[in-house]
Amino acid sequence: MKQQEQFSSRLGFILSAAGAAIGLGAIWKFPYIAGENGGGAFLLLFLIFTMILGLPLLLAEFSIGRTAQQNAVRSFQIIAPGTKWYLIGILGMISVFVLLSFYSVVGGWIITYFWKMITGQLNGLTEPEYAEIFASTIANPAISLGAQLFFMIITIIVITRGVQNGIEQANKIMMPALAILFIILVIRSVTLDGASAGFSFLFYPDFSKVTAHTVLDAMGQSFFTLSLGVSAMITYSSYLPKDQNMPKSAVSIVAMNIMVVLLAGLVIFPAVFAFGMEPDAGPTLLFNVLPTIFSQMPAGMLFFAVFLIVFLFATLTSAFSMLEIIVAVLSRGNKRKRKQWAWIIGFAIFLFGIPSSLSFGLLSDVSLFGKSWFDLADYMVSNVFMPTGALLISIFISFKMKKCALYEEIKSGSNLRFSVFQAWFFLIRYIVPVLIILVMLDVIKG
Ligand code: TRP
Repeated sequence: MKQQEQFSSRLGFILSAAGAAIGLGAIWKFPYIAGENGGGAFLLLFLIFTMILGLPLLLAEFSIGRTAQQNAVRSFQIIAPGTKWYLIGILGMISVFVLLSFYSVVGGWIITYFWKMITGQLNGLTEPEYAEIFASTIANPAISLGAQLFFMIITIIVITRGVQNGIEQANKIMMPALAILFIILVIRSVTLDGASAGFSFLFYPDFSKVTAHTVLDAMGQSFFTLSLGVSAMITYSSYLPKDQNMPKSAVSIVAMNIMVVLLAGLVIFPAVFAFGMEPDAGPTLLFNVLPTIFSQMPAGMLFFAVFLIVFLFATLTSAFSMLEIIVAVLSRGNKRKRKQWAWIIGFAIFLFGIPSSLSFGLLSDVSLFGKSWFDLADYMVSNVFMPTGALLISIFISFKMKKCALYEEIKSGSNLRFSVFQAWFFLIRYIVPVLIILVMLDVIKG
């Protein structure tokens, strides 16, 4: 039973997978989590985890997906029939359900900001005024829920039509546009007076700030930006033809992700310090800093509008991949069911996300385990579900799949040398699971 749809080219696949991977994680989440965790040391840990855990795991998920050519749950059932390993796919479905419930809240913020911008409500304000306007907007339940619902409806409609109608094409324009806009922003940000303090914050690792939680946050961040551990990349690569080069695709995707993370850091931190703001402002950091940077540029508001569109697109393509994982499992290739499930699950996600949306207003005083609902949802996904899924995937691939079959699969479309394959296999079998367990234990003990 083969999937009928496939990607038309390697670039198409890379851009779609990169489009799914590059989203709020690199652009919005990285700066504020790094800001809360002291900057440089966090960046360094993030890069280390991305190279020794992220890259091998990405290739692992690719190999599972392309071997089985099935959705997140069926893939495990095909490779290990009659076992419980398919629960990894179920865990993935639950994870992306929770993930999209708060992801859509932030997606809604982008839409709201865009609306405020084109209706001229953001012209010529100062930084505290931007922060004030943003805080009061997201505290308004009608606006915040309305925008979140709107974001979910766009996501649902795209998913009812199937993965690639147009997404592959649009990615070819949007991802390069994102990179160019970011480069312009970096230039503005680093040339602000007082920007250098931001550089040292981002690039000078201060290990006195590192705790077990910082380490877990950095690991969670690298899983989050690469969409790992929740079978997202298994789903994507199930659409991948056998002649495509998986190791090369994995390397490109990791490289693009790191690039966006660095660019986002280089936009935010120099500006934060130049404007005398605090780097640990939390989830609203990006939204407070950006308009101030744009307002100091010629034709700033025009750039800002374009930026918000591209940013929204990057966020939407990630959201598509999340809903797609669940809908692909439930509809099993049946077109009519795909439509029904997309609406049912999409709406359920919206309902589950309501408390996240209200976390910045009505429910701002309610805390569970010392976190708001929004922060708790994010924490559970990034720091519990994703590492657990990644751990199970690394065990599955090293003990449930035949090594020679894996090598054949990876070699198909690439000419990966056996020695490199061996190194990857060693990492995925021994280093990845042990490291994940150590990081998680360290937090539990602490
Ligand atoms: N990587 C995405 C980001 O950085 C998040 C993401 C997109 C994701 N799709 C996913 C995470 C699927 C888990 C599963 O914004």
